[in-house]
Amino acid sequence: MFTENFLFGGATAAHQCEGAWDVDGKGQTMADLLPATIRQQYTFSDPDAFFTKKFDHYPSHHGVDFYHRYKEDIRLMKEMGFTCFRLSLSWARIYPTGEEEEPLEQGLQFYDDVFDELLANGIEPVVTLSHFDTPLQLVTKYNGWADKHLISCFEKLCRTVFERYKNKVKIWLTFNEVNGVQKLFVCNGTRLKEGQNPEEVGYQVHHNMCVAGATAVKLCHEIIPDAVIGCMVQYSPVYPFSNHPEDVLEALRYERDRELFSLDLQVKGEYPFYTKRLFDQLDVRLDIAESEMSLLKDNPVDFISFSYYMSLSWGRPDLAETVPGNVMAGLKNSNLKSTEWGWQIDPQGLRYACNRLYELYGKPLFIVENGIGVDEKLENGTVEDDYRIEYLRDHLIQLDEAIKDGIPVMGYCMWSPMDIVSNSTGEMRKRYGFIYVDLDDDGNGTMDRYRKKSFNWFKKVTETKGASLYE
Ligand code: BG6
Repeated sequence: MFTENFLFGGATAAHQCEGAWDVDGKGQTMADLLPATIRQQYTFSDPDAFFTKKFDHYPSHHGVDFYHRYKEDIRLMKEMGFTCFRLSLSWARIYPTGEEEEPLEQGLQFYDDVFDELLANGIEPVVTLSHFDTPLQLVTKYNGWADKHLISCFEKLCRTVFERYKNKVKIWLTFNEVNGVQKLFVCNGTRLKEGQNPEEVGYQVHHNMCVAGATAVKLCHEIIPDAVIGCMVQYSPVYPFSNHPEDVLEALRYERDRELFSLDLQVKGEYPFYTKRLFDQLDVRLDIAESEMSLLKDNPVDFISFSYYMSLSWGRPDLAETVPGNVMAGLKNSNLKSTEWGWQIDPQGLRYACNRLYELYGKPLFIVENGIGVDEKLENGTVEDDYRIEYLRDHLIQLDEAIKDGIPVMGYCMWSPMDIVSNSTGEMRKRYGFIYVDLDDDGNGTMDRYRKKSFNWFKKVTETKGASLYE
């Protein structure tokens, strides 16, 4: 069962909720270039469009105005009995271009105010250092994380925020879903040059970010000895599509290549044994310094945090229709239902995920994202979101099973307490919240907050420490 100190809460990211994109000296980030709704159209086919085209509407510019409404949002979280809240720091609020010598006081003060408000309400902040919003200057001048110069810029950010918030924040996460960066250039602002091998650039970006992550671990332990710092990955168990040996091997390859490979580097401080063959096949040659490998080896993360939205099935190509996933796609699993956005719902996969990660790495786990995006309408001041209650209840019950299996789990953050801008599509209508936010895809609405039915349901879950899940 969930213990007394198990953390129940929700998670967000700065660029999806804060808004106030150019307020109080904040610099632009990569996220500020991404348009609403048509973002996916360009993400894979023409990422240059984000830099060259002028779009009608940029949802990060207003988010859901958490920057000005954080007190109201935190009050609602407190009402639901949250004991933790995961949020990310907007790097460009603190170092507008990423390269200033001194940080911006207004930006630092904003997060001080948010942390104070959380702590005054008995909510522990869980802070992601970087969640898909690298300062734009680091993107345009250096091509983002492809350049190792960003490691020192990030180190400066870490030193500043660890010093500043050492008495307020005791749980830190390095980079959001860092295992997805090999494929998701857009989120981290790296562009391919003519003739470059995308795999090589992707794995170099990933390597550089993991080195920066190890730097953060080292600094965090030095500056805040009583804090813990974890990595954050997107993890989906990869089931073999069938028991055909080729499907089993393909599933193993897919899970290693996209997920475990990254965890090995961050948790064990080494590239796993299968890397050489993988890199040879992909014609990848990385620029890796010996000093970087010792840094990684000496500074493993304290725990593994991950997002869990779905399981994936994989096997020989063309066996089944491909279905979309969070970062990775999969083959359709006919045993599972899907969300409106095609993400396959698999509560038991969460129990499997916890078992898999704990048996491989032996580190405490923290589920820092889990939830369902639904197109919802406000009726009579609320939303009867029984499907969300069912989704979250089923996942929490499976998490409880994982804990009963013997796995140390620090906490659970649903995504996201209030509706916020979708990361992959830029839509508002893909709503995840317990709290409805009056805002549409074009940016129209009052941004007023309304409690959905799931709001009171979750309140009861936290009040009873999970016992009400079984009523
Ligand atoms: C995770 C990200 O991939 O999934 C979040 O860390 C994102 O930033 C969440 O919002 C849900 O995905 P989406 O695309 O539906 O917003």
